[in-house]
Amino acid sequence: MSFNFTDESLKKIEESRKKYPTALAAVMDTLWIAQEQNGYISTEVMQEIANVLGIDNVSVLSAATFYTMYHKKPMGKHHIQVCTNVSCMLRGGYEIWKQIKEKYGIDNLGVTEDGLVSIEEVECMGACGYAPMIAINEDYFENLTKDKVEEILDTLK
Ligand code: FES
Repeated sequence: MSFNFTDESLKKIEESRKKYPTALAAVMDTLWIAQEQNGYISTEVMQEIANVLGIDNVSVLSAATFYTMYHKKPMGKHHIQVCTNVSCMLRGGYEIWKQIKEKYGIDNLGVTEDGLVSIEEVECMGACGYAPMIAINEDYFENLTKDKVEEILDTLK
């Protein structure tokens, strides 16, 4: 299935492109714009990013696969990222990861059957001083306990 950017996305890419000295440097912004439009980064999306920026496919693939914020398959409406890196691990990150996996009955990068939730174990998200933390889409939740996590998850509709 082919992928084409909307006019609105192309406008955003053009704006982003102006911020950087090279087209390659705009690849992360462009991936984000593509994900906003398509929901995830497929092979066709990567190909179109390479076309639009005039860069090679491998550069797009490298960025898309290195950073966990880019989804390589359709994820849930609420994508929950759980940090289990050192600070979070020392303050219960793995217990929270286990709690969330058990609640939804899915494993890393799994999506619930109704498409409501997907989960991902991630490396440090830069909120170590407020560990343990999770992110749900673009929102961070910090200084968590298992009870607080349960309250947050219960609000997801
Ligand atoms: S270790 Fe979890 S945010 Fe840094």
